[in-house]
Amino acid sequence: MTTAAVTPASLSEAEILRLREDFPILQTQVNGHPLVYLDSGATSQRPFAVLDAERDFATTMNAAVHRGAHTLAGEATEVFEDARSALAGFIGADDDEIVWTSNATEAVNLVAYSLSNASAGRGGPEADRLRLGPGDEIVTTEMEHHANLIPWQELAARTGATLRVIPLDDDGALRLDVAAELIGPRARLVAVTHVSNVLGVINPVEKIVALAREVGALVLLDACQSAPHLPLDVRALDVDFAVLSGHKMLGPTGIGALYGRRELLEIMPPFLTGGSMITTVTTTEAEYLPPPQRFEAGTQKVSQAVALAAAVRYLQNVGMPRIAAHEAELGAHLVDRLSAIDGVRVLGAGIGLPRVGLASFDVTGIHSHDVGQFLDDAGIAVRVGHHCAQPLHRRLGVTASTRISTYLYTTRDEVDAAIDGVARTIDFFRRA
Ligand SMILES: Cc1ncc(COP(=O)(O)O)c(C=O)c1O
Repeated sequence: MTTAAVTPASLSEAEILRLREDFPILQTQVNGHPLVYLDSGATSQRPFAVLDAERDFATTMNAAVHRGAHTLAGEATEVFEDARSALAGFIGADDDEIVWTSNATEAVNLVAYSLSNASAGRGGPEADRLRLGPGDEIVTTEMEHHANLIPWQELAARTGATLRVIPLDDDGALRLDVAAELIGPRARLVAVTHVSNVLGVINPVEKIVALAREVGALVLLDACQSAPHLPLDVRALDVDFAVLSGHKMLGPTGIGALYGRRELLEIMPPFLTGGSMITTVTTTEAEYLPPPQRFEAGTQKVSQAVALAAAVRYLQNVGMPRIAAHEAELGAHLVDRLSAIDGVRVLGAGIGLPRVGLASFDVTGIHSHDVGQFLDDAGIAVRVGHHCAQPLHRRLGVTASTRISTYLYTTRDEVDAAIDGVARTIDFFRRA
């Protein structure tokens, strides 16, 4: 018997309209127009379930975790650890492989600083296999968000290792032929984004991981733009680290996470040090707790973690495969319609890779800030500029672009409103 591939059902228009009622900000007006929010790639909006979870925590059990012996502290610790389990389950990790951070940027820096601390001899002989030095190579790509680039530049500068960058082709696709050469015997770590925050394409992570495995290099996946939009299983992808930000997946700002393979976290020296991450301290030295607490110095982001867990449950209730299907449809529609407008160049449109509901474009002769301003006048929120990806823009021959990014609550009408707005902007400038 053969099994036909089943394409997951998308979200119906009626469902989207119903779930939009869960998001109070989507009912507001901006500049006299109903808000059309197409900037979820920068930060997503929050449903009542998330807003309520944070408020309920603050009003019924606010306390510092893992410390006090009183009832509230016990309850707070329980919900904090439940939140960790919720996120772990969401990405296919074990609970103790999730480290809370302030955002994805901090999570990448955590790994980079831990590796340079190991290189400086911290962590003892156990951490020896993490040492980097002259002759070692860190490999990243030309399409990274600065958060997954600058920490590696700094790590290379601190350790004497060399940073290698996988280039893009003219369409913005990763040059896998060059990747195969760059990920050689000297490569120790490969840091790559799952989904580009500018192009919206889903990178062939499996191929990069296979190249890294051949030479024994570690892989760090930037899952900022994938965890919110696609089913994500870090174990199935076989990555060593993954980073994400809560505010991009319906959660609050101020919380993100690092997934780290347990056997690596166990030998990694800490990044931040201080309270909450130790067992014994003298005036001259300290012994550290096992992971994940070893990496969670100081008072924790408890209400934010609880709210992020509510976001995860909300996403699971809707269903990640259905969210991904909805966004794939919006993404294809976005690219088709934008590409049909004379004077619009969609960055990375032609490469035929699967994509999320996000695309960036350049309009000949019109600065992205002007496009954004015109759309904003009509209540349409998009992102303009370099989107923290200057090397990518430079490679594609532009300094800035306009980005439209969608989410589970975005309707096709909203995408059309933005594209009609772009066409009107071009008309206006041509007539001027
Ligand atoms: C692909 C990617 N990586 C990393 C980040 C950094 O996220 P944060 O600023 O929340 O740390 C972003 C944010 O835009 C992103 O899109």
